[in-house]
Amino acid sequence: MSRPESAPALRCRGVSRRFGDVVALDAVDLDVPAGSLTALLGPSGCGKTTLLRVVAGLERPDAGTVELGGRTVDGPGGSLPPEERGVGLVFQEHALFPHLDVAGNVGFGLRHLDRTARSARVAEVLDLVGLAGTGDRSPTVLSGGQRQRVALARALAPAPTLLLLDEPFSSLDAALRVALRDEVRTILRAAAQTALLVTHDQEEALSVADRVAVMFEGRLHQVADPQTLYGAPATPAVAAFIGDADVLPGRRAGRYLVDTPLGRLATTDAVASEEVAVVVRPEAVRLRARPDGPATVRSLTYYGRDQLVGVETADGARLRARRGPERDLARGDRVDVAVEGPVVTFPTH
Ligand SMILES: Nc1ncnc2c1ncn2[C@@H]1O[C@H](COP(=O)(O)OP(=O)(O)OP(=O)(O)O)[C@@H](O)[C@H]1O
Ligand SMILES: [Mg+2]
Repeated sequence: MSRPESAPALRCRGVSRRFGDVVALDAVDLDVPAGSLTALLGPSGCGKTTLLRVVAGLERPDAGTVELGGRTVDGPGGSLPPEERGVGLVFQEHALFPHLDVAGNVGFGLRHLDRTARSARVAEVLDLVGLAGTGDRSPTVLSGGQRQRVALARALAPAPTLLLLDEPFSSLDAALRVALRDEVRTILRAAAQTALLVTHDQEEALSVADRVAVMFEGRLHQVADPQTLYGAPATPAVAAFIGDADVLPGRRAGRYLVDTPLGRLATTDAVASEEVAVVVRPEAVRLRARPDGPATVRSLTYYGRDQLVGVETADGARLRARRGPERDLARGDRVDVAVEGPVVTFPTH
């Protein structure tokens, strides 16, 4: 038996949920370690909100168990109601109480405290989210970013075992979104708050979280730190979803060697079958202009700080190289292509 202190903040085992023919969650196993900021990342409709609602107790799973801080809150034995689970929730739409002022909103989950303790805690969390002194304002006069910080303060105030955030920045414009997500990471760290953040934005997941769980069609494909997800994706779907990637055909040439249209490349893991799909990141591709080089430049897409150069090899394989913004290559130029570092391969059968 594990002691409650060493238990993860959240442990899901075999959690499944169907809606008619739609399998929203398919035997999900997920741990959120205490103190971590874990992102749940996946495309629209993959089941992220459903998992959050199951954890919060707003939805019952068809199968599986949910534990919070070592305590079973859902399973064959029954289900604990949401208000007894000790989780905090922040949703995309701010959902503040318009008839309460900011302090009333933030203190909403603190009604068990006496007036002095409650107002001290409200002041503390308002300070934490950078809204000190706004307690007597109405939420209706605040900006979108301020309202979202009030929603965060309200969820943080009771110091929940686990904070669940469902796309909390998606209603904000791009610049505010980036600023607020960095701020929220700092706030959560300062409060030592364990959190599970739902997003479909891979940049948001990689830049904010220390662990990322990647989900497709109700199944978790991989749970890892951002560097591992990018460098060692567990499935082709993860490789394609995290960052840019091109896929080339490959044939096993040794335990850690594969033959590709770019020549023989080293692989990160043992090559698992005769024919494989080879994942190449544009960051790893080096181009050098040479008049009788084996590949031809087909496209140039300029981003300011860098550019993506698309090339085609003699046997028709296409891939992209990320390079600095210099204008030394033009469409139609012949180039040598080299791949730096080992590549990831997946069996194709
Ligand atoms: N109450 C419901 N009734 C019927 N189908 C539902 C219900 N809730 C969710 N679904 C379906 O379950 C699947 C997963 O939905 P969910 O809302 O969990 O996705 P999501 O990953 O949060 O997507 P998004 O990024 O768009 O918010 C979808 O196909 C959705 O249509
Ligand atoms: Mg959702």
